[in-house]
Amino acid sequence: MAYTLPALPYAYGALEPHIDARTMEIHHSKHHAAYVTNLNAALAKEPAFAAPECVNALIANLDAVPASIRGAVRNNGGGHANHSLFWKLLAPSPAVSAKSPSGALKTAIEKHFGGLGGLQEKFNAAAAGRFGSGWAWLVAKPDGSLAVISTPNQDSPLMGTAAGVETAGAPVLALDVWEHAYYLKYQNRRAEYIAAFWNVLNWDVAGERYAKAAAGSGAPAQAA
Ligand SMILES: [Fe+2]
Repeated sequence: MAYTLPALPYAYGALEPHIDARTMEIHHSKHHAAYVTNLNAALAKEPAFAAPECVNALIANLDAVPASIRGAVRNNGGGHANHSLFWKLLAPSPAVSAKSPSGALKTAIEKHFGGLGGLQEKFNAAAAGRFGSGWAWLVAKPDGSLAVISTPNQDSPLMGTAAGVETAGAPVLALDVWEHAYYLKYQNRRAEYIAAFWNVLNWDVAGERYAKAAAGSGAPAQAA
C-alpha cells in the first residue's frame, strides 16, 4: 500500500492574514508531500512489512517496524501524521468554527489550566521553548486528563513514552513550529506566529477530538 497526500480542506489563502497563502502552498504541496514520498520510499525497502492503512496506527507502534527503516518511518510517518492532523485543526479566517472551546473540552481546560488563558500561556511557552524544529501539543492522556507538551522533529504523542515521547496520548491541539511553517511571513518572530495560530484554530475539531479521546479512556465526557 502507499500513503497519499490528503487535500487541504480549504484554499491555500483561506487562513490569511494569519498564515499566508504562499507558506501554506509550500508547506502542503512540498513539505508534507515530501514526508509522504519519503515514507513510501522507506516502506518499499521492506516489502514484507505490512504497514497499517492508517498512518496513526503505523507511528503508534514503531516497535513493529523493521529496524532498518524505523528511523525513516518515525520521521516521515510522523511528518505525514502530524501535518494531516494540523490542517484539520486550522479553520478559514474569519473562523467558520467556534472561537473558543465548548462542552467537555472547555470543562477539562478549566479543570487543568484554570481556563483558556491558562492553557494558552502553557501552550505558547511550549511552542516558543521548543529549540529548533518540532511541535507543541495539547494531549488527552489515557486517563482523560490534559497535558501540554512539545516534541522534537516529527515526533508525536501517539508514539508513546516507550519511544521516548514525554507524554503519550491523543493529540487535541497541534502546532507546527518548524521554521518552514512561518518563516516567509514571520521570519524569526515565532511568537507572533504562535499568537496568530489561536485566530485560525478550529475549536470544533479540537472538541470532537477531545470527546472521542475521553470516551475511549472511559472518563466521563462531561467531567466536572
Ligand atoms: Fe510542517
